[in-house]
Amino acid sequence: MKNQILELLRKNTEYVSGQELCEHFKVSRTAVWKAVEQLKKDGYNIEAVRNRGYRLVTTGSDVYNKAEIDNTIDTDYIGRNSFFYNIIGSTNTEAKRLAEEGAPDGTLVVADRQTAGKGRRGRSWISPEGANIYFSLMLKPDFHPSQAPMLTLVMALAVADAISILQEGYRAQDDKHQKSENGSATNIGIKWPNDIVVNGKKVCGILTEMSVERDYIQYVVIGTGINVKQQVFDAEFADHASSLEAELDSFVSRSGLIGLIMKAFEKYYEEFKKAGSLGAVKADYEKYLVNINREVCVLDPKGEYRGISLGINDNGELLVKTEDGAVNEVYAGEVSVRGIYGYV
Ligand code: BTN
Repeated sequence: MKNQILELLRKNTEYVSGQELCEHFKVSRTAVWKAVEQLKKDGYNIEAVRNRGYRLVTTGSDVYNKAEIDNTIDTDYIGRNSFFYNIIGSTNTEAKRLAEEGAPDGTLVVADRQTAGKGRRGRSWISPEGANIYFSLMLKPDFHPSQAPMLTLVMALAVADAISILQEGYRAQDDKHQKSENGSATNIGIKWPNDIVVNGKKVCGILTEMSVERDYIQYVVIGTGINVKQQVFDAEFADHASSLEAELDSFVSRSGLIGLIMKAFEKYYEEFKKAGSLGAVKADYEKYLVNINREVCVLDPKGEYRGISLGINDNGELLVKTEDGAVNEVYAGEVSVRGIYGYV
């Protein structure tokens, strides 16, 4: 009943009278009132005005649960089978468990808080509640395992696109978010291979894990952590980490953002699968690549060196031209890249 009322309120931007709800659902006024109270408890902002009725206020509302996430997902199969946890160890670990149990391709696992969030290179990913997005998307692709790491770049592209859509929305609404004087340069970028940066600060990290048996992918899990509302960061990250609300100077709905990411991911993933390489989405990816045509420092375990980054190749490797004119293909698994003046 409460979900049906919610659906009806979603469809109406104007007030819906209590009488109308009673007649529509053939229930008493008290039953309607009780359902509305439950929805409010779930976090929905429902205005109740005498003689007018009820109205769902969606702006500024961060309802974060399975129903709300499902409602934002508008894809063929990516994220259609979803799980939501208020608290979990790691969404990646849970997505792997579900994959082993036979969960379908495109299963999405979201949590409000992680107690054992995993970052890249064996680090942990601090995951407080009520602030950020932690999700893992599980895929069962039929391509070669060597292609799986490229999915991290596809996800980075989808996240960057989704954040750009949010920003476009803010720009359409008010003057505060207009483009900077110098015009088109976007402040939303990807630091190769898969950190999303806004105004030069990291807001998102991606960790891809997979299970392979005899040269055959059993499943891939793309774990994504996005700082949305977090305001305070540990000292070691404070100078280069931030959150979307801080950088975009706007409210961000976590459920809404997940919906945008799933939509963008499905589009790019289909293009990637059809082409069998990153070639299909390379131009889109490079639009966001902050390292492009910049001097970078390659932190190669065999020896650090500098060069100019030219973009990526069809395998997602960073092309770095060194002083002697050679172009190195840098593979993300082995090395990381820094700007010569700092993080980006
Ligand atoms: C990085 O180190 O930059 C990658 C961080 C990835 C964190 C996400 S949060 C959701 C998913 N579950 C995890 O345990 N890790 C990833």
